[in-house]
Amino acid sequence: MIIDGKKTAAELREKIKKEISKLKSTYNAVPGLTVILVGEDPASKIYVKNKEKFAKEVGMNSEVIRYPADLEEKVLLDKIQELNKNKRVSGILVQLPLPKHIDKRKVIETIDPRKDVDGFHPMNVGNLSSGYDSSIPCTPLGCSLLLKKVEKNLSGKSAVVIGRSNLNGKPMTQLLLKENCTVTVTHSKTKDLKAECQRADIIIAAVGIPKLVKGDWVKKGTIVIDVGINKTDSGIVGDVDFDQVSKVAKAITPVPGGVGPMTIACLLKNTVECFKKSNI
Ligand code: GUN
Repeated sequence: MIIDGKKTAAELREKIKKEISKLKSTYNAVPGLTVILVGEDPASKIYVKNKEKFAKEVGMNSEVIRYPADLEEKVLLDKIQELNKNKRVSGILVQLPLPKHIDKRKVIETIDPRKDVDGFHPMNVGNLSSGYDSSIPCTPLGCSLLLKKVEKNLSGKSAVVIGRSNLNGKPMTQLLLKENCTVTVTHSKTKDLKAECQRADIIIAAVGIPKLVKGDWVKKGTIVIDVGINKTDSGIVGDVDFDQVSKVAKAITPVPGGVGPMTIACLLKNTVECFKKSNI
């Protein structure tokens, strides 16, 4: 089975669009998403354009603030503080990576946790790991929704997460724990990654190494979620060797068309959640 992230994301966006239309008649207001882009990173420019496009498509107020790469940190922090106070703004996202002279941690911690649609603020990270209500980072949330499409009950499953980043690996681990999986978090110092993967019922590959996971790493019946987006001479490929692994896996996400579209749909979902909470 190939897990169709494009279709699942389109369905989720349709649901969100309907919900926003209802919210509009209840509150006479719609959720607002503000995305900040600093610099000219080509991939970031594409991501931000898509975020803007889909936010508009579902009926949100969508705004993108673009700054040059040599932006003074204080200007960015002041802008975030202004957005924190703006009632029309439900969610704030600062696109990463940021230029080196800007302190990423300071930027993330300046965003009001109630408007942190990325789920990167330490308060949201802490709440997620404590099992409390929180914003959940968009990519792991998308992965978890795709997993649930294949298997409703993940309890007791053995899950291997490849990569331990704050963006993906760590929050993904928390979400799998919440589903009662037994989770192994692997990384560049892991001794025998192949052997770890061979034991897994679920593999989440989020490491940024093209086609790392091979066919003989995966046992029959495993669900494989590929978070990788790697540029190679033969085009964009994931962290999983799709041709090999799709022959043995029970279900697998393709790249492109798997996790990618879900990330933006989940960002819209998080923005709606922030809007709803601000209206309680
Ligand atoms: N850069 C790559 N992925 C992401 C993401 O999910 N959020 C933000 N803010 N920046 C990113």
